[in-house]
Amino acid sequence: MSKLNITDELRSNVSYHCWLQYRKIEEEAWIEQYQKYCHIIVVAEDSPIKTSALSELQKGLTSLLGHTPSVSTNPQQSSAIILATAEDAHLYEDVIHPVVFEQVNDDGYIIKAINDNSCNKLYLLGKQDKGVLYAAFHLLRKMAQQEELQSVDIIENPRNQFRMINQWDNMNGTIERGYSGNSIFYADNQFIGDWERIKDYARLLSSVGINAISINNVNVFKVETKLITEDFLPDVAKVADIFRAYGIKTFLSINYASPIELGDLDTADPLNPDVEAWWKEKAEEIYSYIPDFGGFVVKADSEHRPGPFSYNRDHAEGANVLAKALQPFGGVVIWRCFVYNCLQDWRDRSTDRAKAAYDHFKPLDGKFLENVILQVKNGPMDFQVREPVSPLFGAMSETNQIIEFQVAQEYTGQQIDLCYLVPQWKEVLDFDTFADGKNSEVKKIVDGSLFQFKYSGVAAVSNIGNDQNWTGNTLAQANLYGYGRLIWNPELTSEEIAEEWITATFGHKPNVKETILNMLMSSWPIYENYTAPLGVGWMINPGHHYGPNIDGYEYSVWGTYHYADRDGIGVDRTSATGTGYTNQYFPPNSAFYESLETCPDELLLFFHHVPYTHRLHSGKTVIQHIYDTHFAGVEQVEKLKAMFSELDGDIDQAIYHNVLERLERQLKNATEWRDKINTYFFRKSGIEDEKHRKIY
Ligand code: GCU
Repeated sequence: MSKLNITDELRSNVSYHCWLQYRKIEEEAWIEQYQKYCHIIVVAEDSPIKTSALSELQKGLTSLLGHTPSVSTNPQQSSAIILATAEDAHLYEDVIHPVVFEQVNDDGYIIKAINDNSCNKLYLLGKQDKGVLYAAFHLLRKMAQQEELQSVDIIENPRNQFRMINQWDNMNGTIERGYSGNSIFYADNQFIGDWERIKDYARLLSSVGINAISINNVNVFKVETKLITEDFLPDVAKVADIFRAYGIKTFLSINYASPIELGDLDTADPLNPDVEAWWKEKAEEIYSYIPDFGGFVVKADSEHRPGPFSYNRDHAEGANVLAKALQPFGGVVIWRCFVYNCLQDWRDRSTDRAKAAYDHFKPLDGKFLENVILQVKNGPMDFQVREPVSPLFGAMSETNQIIEFQVAQEYTGQQIDLCYLVPQWKEVLDFDTFADGKNSEVKKIVDGSLFQFKYSGVAAVSNIGNDQNWTGNTLAQANLYGYGRLIWNPELTSEEIAEEWITATFGHKPNVKETILNMLMSSWPIYENYTAPLGVGWMINPGHHYGPNIDGYEYSVWGTYHYADRDGIGVDRTSATGTGYTNQYFPPNSAFYESLETCPDELLLFFHHVPYTHRLHSGKTVIQHIYDTHFAGVEQVEKLKAMFSELDGDIDQAIYHNVLERLERQLKNATEWRDKINTYFFRKSGIEDEKHRKIY
């Protein structure tokens, strides 16, 4: 008997396949309907991406229908699935007019069924071969959801151009903010070389439409700096080959000081001609290995990373030198706006971390070259459970922007606690910035339509590692799935996305669907209930960022950032009496946040310092809200656990135990948060709980 290799062993587990399980369909009626199309797949000349589409269909259909389709290049079939790009007109032109491709963008596709007495054909047509691959995944998803195919007539275009994932993997194998094992890419300062696992990751990403990936941490340390050298480029090229076959472009995070660390230069000053020449040569070298290399992701002048500030240059000058080097090859620079002084003195209330990105970047609007894209975190701080939307969205109409989300649950329970983040991202995308009058939602800025950006889209920090189920908590797979689906089509609802994911992962049992849907949809509000209240943020243990520590802000040598004292709490960010952050928003948002009357409860303490007795719009006082939500949070987690326990025997046992164990830990965590928060604020304020519950 042959020995199982690592990937075979992993693959033996259901949760490894995430939403690509393609469970065998039991109902004869569905099998009969689907089988009509699925005996033969017709595909014209090969490309690596079409080969992927074909292999996905073969794998998926075999698993769903128990029958492997054969493959042919001959379009003269009575029944078949036809895979074709616009160029393969001979495969479709007798039934579909090529003019329909005018409605399809570069990554878009058409799925159309043609049925008559003797003929059942399903056309999967992309303008390019990527579209064919996405259409194949769409078809498989429909079948896994058990949706009818006979009248299918779909034209789909992704709304966002860049649909990116950022790995925060280090070459020693660790992952910055990783909660599901180690890197699937690196160990011991080398590439691991488990190309099969990377391919399986590419399949997962591509199936939800991801088309770009950066494969190393934004904090680029010593070894990773060498990823752009001959030491590692051959391996980067292998990774890029795998992703390319799934329509995904590979990017690298770079160290801004590379000319010093890798070259013989004693400066990385972007205006120094030797530095400019160094980057040009470097780009040439990289493209000699990877002809379609995506470009660089850059974290500069932030949290101790080097950047142009060291040379008194601004970030436009800093980014442009890289952009010039990449431009001849079609590469882009993705320049992060997460730039702030982490050693800021919080006692000085005129400085405000929330203001930093806008202050640094807004004045540079229009100064970046056209292949620079600014990557802006969704909020002005750092992926907290609740933050307002970053005021940079819409503030730079002359500069390409993409938004950055965090699928990794750094501040939202670390894939121990359940927190389905799609509703949070959706709120952000739907937020109206008023940048160009009413209806200037974030989603219209990042999809490039409001200001006609050349490049635009969405990026997010990945939540996967080498755990068998990829994401630690199996239910956290819903966040990766949901991220891809939402940024493909921001009009999908959080429920729709959750339902798709649940069916693909757990099948069609109504009780399972209902329970998991309830769990996912209630999870973000629950997490918010037992952690930092009313948008104030943090209160989390510094360093690893799990569990409560009310005064424990990262850089708290300067005292607490939430300004809680015996009378009240919150950060005054108004322009009347505070840091003036509210001014960074367009009207009427600026006035809306400025005024206590209109500021929404959930962001009250982000924008205002108020007495504990301040009454919220909900009618409760701030202190009572704190007590109530923290008691409620724990009760809700208890309910989550009880609901989930009912599914014993109805879902895969390994998944059941994995999730249950996480819920037990979540309950402990929630209890600790409740007790610490309530005690802290009871002691600070001296105000009793109206309901006289026991505060520990
Ligand atoms: C957060 C996170 C860091 C990360 C940083 C970033 O501060 O805790 O680990 O490096 O964000 O986005 O660059």
